Amino acid sequence: MTQTTYDFDKVIDRHGTCCTKLDGLDAMFGRHDVTALWIADLDFAVCPDITAALRHRLDHPVLGYSAAPDSYWQSIIDWQRRRHGLEITREELSFVPGVVKGIALALNYFTCRGDKVLIQPPVYHPFKMVIEGNERQVVENPLIVGDGTYTMDLKGLTETLERENPKMMILCNPHNPIGLQWSAETLAEVARLCRANGTIVVSDEIHGDLMLGDRKHIPFISVSDDAREVGIMLGAPSKTFNIPGLVSSWMVVKSPTLRAGFYHWLDVNEFNDPVMISTIGAEAAYTHGEPWLNQMLDYVAGNIKFVNEYLAANVPQVKAFTPEASFLVWLDFRQLGLPQDQLMSLLLNKAHLALNDGAMFGAQGVGFMRLNVGTPRCVLAAALEHIRDAVNTL
Ligand SMILES: Cc1ncc(COP(=O)(O)O)c(C=O)c1O
Repeated sequence: MTQTTYDFDKVIDRHGTCCTKLDGLDAMFGRHDVTALWIADLDFAVCPDITAALRHRLDHPVLGYSAAPDSYWQSIIDWQRRRHGLEITREELSFVPGVVKGIALALNYFTCRGDKVLIQPPVYHPFKMVIEGNERQVVENPLIVGDGTYTMDLKGLTETLERENPKMMILCNPHNPIGLQWSAETLAEVARLCRANGTIVVSDEIHGDLMLGDRKHIPFISVSDDAREVGIMLGAPSKTFNIPGLVSSWMVVKSPTLRAGFYHWLDVNEFNDPVMISTIGAEAAYTHGEPWLNQMLDYVAGNIKFVNEYLAANVPQVKAFTPEASFLVWLDFRQLGLPQDQLMSLLLNKAHLALNDGAMFGAQGVGFMRLNVGTPRCVLAAALEHIRDAVNTL
């Protein structure tokens, strides 16, 4: 059987689709006449099997209450086994209406107002927003920045756990915005330290299916008994298959002790009630989307190589951290020596690019910007030329 080849070079006009990346430009950046390479979705057409499954269901004229079929749950279980070697059971699995909402649900159930919750900046900014917005306290164990990569500060983690006694830690695995997959040893040490301290670990693994090259994703709950005891894993086909608009996230809790009250609470409040359209999209994606995903990841890896080579040859003052996962590139502008507002203005008003301001991810992100490379190469090439020309004006 010949395999379908998907076209990731095609430029698709997303205007008129209620697309946050474009329709949110004014609110976020104060102008909309710029190239949008910020929020983390892809500019690529989704796998046609997903749209076909949705279309097929919408051909039926009644859209009443719906129950997720067994085949939906099984598609998640099979995907985790096939892609990551992770065994999960139906009872360990729950639908959640979004990964950030899953974090918020766990935080609200397991912690109280005033409790401390640990994060490791620079990190995905809603972690801090959820903690502070729910009147909990943020405790930070920043990553250690090195030459071209970051490491987790395990000594700092040990001390912070002892000193601050956080009830919960929100782990990002792989870690957005840098695209780092934590090693099994690091994850096992996190689990050991957190279990010893009585700290629950919420592991956000939304980027876990997006491993590049021959890197493998290591789910937190796969590494040790400690991890299974303290871990709440969150995942979704949303980033993987570019269907975040369908909202199809899920959660896995291995420990019966953690699960019992929590899953009951989700159940009685109907927070775990799957949405019909999202289960259809998710099942089609997990069942038929793997060839699309593999080709998409090859394309994104090509884009990352392109960024590295372009910057090295044309803008050597700007360095890209090469991600191990996902389609986000953490760009280091520190050599330009600009204050953050001037750096942001250079990129927005001179390069006409909407990138995520590194400072969103914590004070440790000052001097950095996050570039979304999940876009056709011609768009990326033009954006890099704009960066070069803007930097040359300095
Ligand atoms: C680490 C991380 N978690 C969660 C999300 C958002 O997930 P959801 O839309 O399911 O809340 C993102 C999106 O960029 C992300 O990068």
